[in-house]
Amino acid sequence: MIILIGGEKGGTGKTTIATNMAAMRALTGRDVLLIDTDPQGSANYWAQSRDEEGITPRVACVQKFGKGLPKEVQDLASRYEDIIIDAGGRDSIELRSALVVTERLFVPIQPSQFDIWTLNQMEELVDTAKAFNPDLVAKVIISRASTNPSVHESNDTAKLLNDFDNLDLSESIIRDRIAYRKAAKDGLSIAELKPKDQKAAAEMELLYEEVFGDE
Ligand SMILES: Nc1ncnc2c1ncn2[C@@H]1O[C@H](COP(=O)(O)OP(=O)(O)OP(=O)(O)O)[C@@H](O)[C@H]1O
Ligand SMILES: [Mg+2]
Repeated sequence: MIILIGGEKGGTGKTTIATNMAAMRALTGRDVLLIDTDPQGSANYWAQSRDEEGITPRVACVQKFGKGLPKEVQDLASRYEDIIIDAGGRDSIELRSALVVTERLFVPIQPSQFDIWTLNQMEELVDTAKAFNPDLVAKVIISRASTNPSVHESNDTAKLLNDFDNLDLSESIIRDRIAYRKAAKDGLSIAELKPKDQKAAAEMELLYEEVFGDE
């Protein structure tokens, strides 16, 4: 399975989600490769700290840039069971070219109007990519949402997404929790962090089920 976590907005939690998905997938015994296409290299740093801390299972990570990405991803897909691509927070060659070879795209957005506006561009990018990759499934994940139960941000986003043919709303919501930052710092997934943040672990597990679902 080739999964892309991307979007045109910075800081929405793409790397957090990509690294969690990679580690959780590896924990089930699958042979996973994380591809970091962002020059900032945060996913790669995460994988390095995981290695330095000697955390197992190891999560292999490579950095790849430029328009040769689709060919490289296809080659790597024959060597790994799963590939998770972390694309940086802007419209880039990497984001556009990864869209051509990925099976599922997840776009984390923070439930603020400014983030929601960037979905117009994502809708167009997915539309273009579908000419080459007709089976592409694209979902928006509400990420870093408030933990205050009186804030109903997801309803607004769901309504807005009705206008987009190519983007569906993910059922899982990832909330802003300090545990995600703690886990990331040590090269861990939220499932491995001790003491466990039950709510964070449960919501990430739901997302995992949605991302890999039937696979
Ligand atoms: N659900 C969350 N709860 C708390 N903190 C979070 C959450 N998601 C991400 N963060 C923190 O917010 C910052 C940005 O997150 P992250 O690097 O995952 O975003 P990104 O979309 O990959 O950013 P960029 O566009 O720069 O690549 C990081 O410090 C991260 O630890
Ligand atoms: Mg990132």
